[in-house]
Amino acid sequence: MQKPIYELLMLYLNGEFKEYFSESDPFKVLQRLEGKVYRQVKSRKTFQFEHNGMTYFAKLHDGVGWLEIFKNLIRLKLPVLGARVEWDAIKRLNQISIATMNVVGFGQRGWNPAKIQSFIITEDLRETISLEEFCLEWTDSPPAHSIRRALIKEVARIASVMHSSGISHRDFYLCHFLLHKEAKHFPKLSLIDLHRAIIQKRLSRRWIIKDIAGLYYSAMQIGLSKRDLLRFARHYSAEDKELTYRNNIEFWAQVEKRADNMFKRLGPAR
Ligand SMILES: Nc1ncnc2c1ncn2[C@@H]1O[C@H](COP(=O)(O)OP(=O)(O)OP(=O)(O)O)[C@@H](O)[C@H]1O
Ligand SMILES: [Mg+2]
Repeated sequence: MQKPIYELLMLYLNGEFKEYFSESDPFKVLQRLEGKVYRQVKSRKTFQFEHNGMTYFAKLHDGVGWLEIFKNLIRLKLPVLGARVEWDAIKRLNQISIATMNVVGFGQRGWNPAKIQSFIITEDLRETISLEEFCLEWTDSPPAHSIRRALIKEVARIASVMHSSGISHRDFYLCHFLLHKEAKHFPKLSLIDLHRAIIQKRLSRRWIIKDIAGLYYSAMQIGLSKRDLLRFARHYSAEDKELTYRNNIEFWAQVEKRADNMFKRLGPAR
């Protein structure tokens, strides 16, 4: 039988999901699946579901349409074309040993960029709390210095390793760091939500500034001191010789300006 043209297909499923979808079309099954919806916008849905006693997260992307693609291009923005971006970024993070989600399924079909359908399924990172939530009460009840210092150091390390490997997250906020509550070593953090990530051979400074400013914006309400910020800059710069921004006043001024603008435009991150 001749396959329809939209069947231009990429598919990865682990054993469990191969079996689950053995008799069916994974795209259709996922679209109909009931679960707890975490996010739903026009061309994307993120939800949690259960299968064989385990919980998973699925993110489904529908074609964004040519209009959206053109609108983005006119504004010199990169359109997000689907789960492939997240799938590639997770593979890259695995190579550089940054903890992230464990992918159990990925699929993409279609050849027309405006109509590509795709999904990514990841294991639920259980027993975790986002740093946004973990740091929520820090202004009223500050944590022990050791906790604060260790977290700043680890977040700076992750940012630095990621950037020096050419990855920009592009949604680099505290809410996308999940802290494992039961890990043997503190802090164990997993980075999530990579569907806007870009990977370049050598990351341009514009993307670095965007990420760090986003992170700073998301942390503006948790009462960081000047010392904390300097600590971040020191660790961020220490990881990689190329990211020697520690004493680069102009760089940090740009980060601050961009974060301030975000605050003016969007209000507090939480
Ligand atoms: N594998 C996972 N384990 C645990 N929690 C997850 C996982 N994947 C997603 N989540 C939860 O679902 C939320 C939404 O996921 P994600 O941020 O990737 O989707 P999104 O569609 O980009 O949403 P948003 O636009 O709100 O960022 C996350 O902030 C997190 O709370
Ligand atoms: Mg998100």
